[in-house]
Amino acid sequence: MGVRFLKIAVVYLMLGTLLGLYMGGTEKFVLAPVHAHLLLLGWASLALAGLIYHLHPAAGETRLARIHFWLHNIALPVSMAALALLLSGTVAAGPFVGIGSTAMFAGLVLFGVNVLVNVRAPA
Ligand code: HEM
Ligand code: HEM
Repeated sequence: MGVRFLKIAVVYLMLGTLLGLYMGGTEKFVLAPVHAHLLLLGWASLALAGLIYHLHPAAGETRLARIHFWLHNIALPVSMAALALLLSGTVAAGPFVGIGSTAMFAGLVLFGVNVLVNVRAPA
C-alpha cells in the first residue's frame, strides 16, 4: 500500500503545483485554497501516509489502509472540484464540498486509528 500512496501523491503534486503556476501566471488567486489543499491533503498527507505504511507494513497491509486509500482518493477530487466551483461562484456546489470534506475526514480518522493500533516500535 505504501507505494500506491506515494505514486498517487505525486499526481496531486503535479496537479497542485500546475494550479499554483496558473494562479501566479494569471494573477488570479481565487483558487488558492484548492491549490493549498490539493498539495497538503493530496501530496503532503498521502506521501507521509505512504512512507508510514512503507515503514510499517503491519499497518500498511490492513483493510483500514485500503479503505483509507479509496475514501481519501474519491473524496479529495470530489471536494476539490466542488470547492473550485464554489469559489468560482457556483453556490450549488456547496453541499458537495461538505460531503466530500466529511468523507475526507472519515478517511483521515481511519488512518489515525490504523497508526494508533498497528504502528509499533521494532522489537
Ligand atoms: C511550482 C510550485 C508552486 C507554485 C507556482 C505555487 C504558487 C502559489 C501561489 C501563486 C499562491 C497564492 C499566493 C497568494 O494568494 O498571494 C500559493 C499559495 C499557497 N501555496 Fe503554493 N505554489 C507552489 C507549490 C506549493 C506546494 C508544494 C505547497 C504545499 C506542499 C504549497 C502550498 C501553498 C499554500 C498553503 C498556500 C496558501 C494558500 C492560501 O493562502 O489560501 N504551494 N502558491
Ligand atoms: C478534511 C480536511 C480539511 C478540511 C475540511 C479543511 C478546511 C479548511 C478551511 C475551511 C480553511 C479556510 C479556508 C479559507 O480561509 O478560505 C482551511 C485553511 C487551511 N488549511 Fe485546511 N482543511 C483540511 C485539512 C488540512 C490539512 C491536512 C492541512 C495541512 C497538512 C491543511 C492546511 C491548511 C492551511 C495551511 C490553510 C490556510 C490556507 C490559507 O491561508 O488560505 N488543511 N482549511
